[in-house]
Amino acid sequence: MVSLFSFKHKIMNETLKIAIQKSGRLYEGSMLLLKECGIEVGNGNNQLRVLASNFPAEIFFLRDDDIPEYVQDAVADIGFIGENVVKEKKKTVDTVEKLGFGKCRLSIAVTKSGSLKTIDDLNGKKIATSYPEILSQYLQQKNIAASIHEISGSVEIAPRIGLADAICDLVSSGSTLFSNELVEIETILSSEAILISNKKLSVEKKFILDSLLFRIRAVRKARNNKYVLLNAPNDKIDTITKLLPGMKSPTILPLAESGWSSIHSVINEADFWNVIEQLKANGAQGILIIPIEKMII
Ligand code: PRP
Ligand code: ZN
Repeated sequence: MVSLFSFKHKIMNETLKIAIQKSGRLYEGSMLLLKECGIEVGNGNNQLRVLASNFPAEIFFLRDDDIPEYVQDAVADIGFIGENVVKEKKKTVDTVEKLGFGKCRLSIAVTKSGSLKTIDDLNGKKIATSYPEILSQYLQQKNIAASIHEISGSVEIAPRIGLADAICDLVSSGSTLFSNELVEIETILSSEAILISNKKLSVEKKFILDSLLFRIRAVRKARNNKYVLLNAPNDKIDTITKLLPGMKSPTILPLAESGWSSIHSVINEADFWNVIEQLKANGAQGILIIPIEKMII
């Protein structure tokens, strides 16, 4: 059977150019998201661009710092990129969707054993960073007269070699700061991967983007939810149904043993343990939690 999508794609013969980070923090999350969206891409080893084999998309592997500009200039149509880079580069692009991975923060950090302890101590000092735009805005807001030394990589070594008194850099696990004996004194921005788009996509490209977004949302909903099955005495069904509203309402099936039912529903990862405790307190037994692969509401 030819799906509506492949049918329209054949007519349009158009391809969506997707920019992702060539290597670094966002590479794996971006590739995993494409894979879970059913889009087959080679790993791009040393290749700048790769055509997806089963979706009208072409993947460009680029330096993350360049992605906003490439999307603005329509070299790529969309990009998976850190919010931090988009805010720093100030290019004209649309933010379409948060992607839920690559969570990190932009922080100011100082030497652990040094005399600088708070942001106010940075008056008259020098801060090394790859984020001069965001940092200068922040310092201005806080009325701190520090100078900014822009460097493009290995920011964490700047205090040790006497290049700066403090740094402003991305922190994810914190291990880079830890191994360089640095401590955070101020978080200035929280960030995660987002999907950005060129402002003037053609109707055909928009159609492909919508199809991609539909898949991304189904994957993300599935990641945030679990399927739950449990047995409960019939007199507790009402209470348990309130705890597990599900997508529409739970499925309730009678068990062979009279007076008992099996209840099936969907539960959000965020309130998971809290709800499980309440289910147990209300007589639920044999609770099974199962991952969901895709979720379409
Ligand atoms: C950031 C940052 C640190 C590292 C922090 O680099 O510059 O080096 O991640 O992560 P951690 O807290 O888990 O140790 P990024 O991957 O964004 O690379 P880039 O600066 O070269 O783009
Ligand atoms: Zn970068």
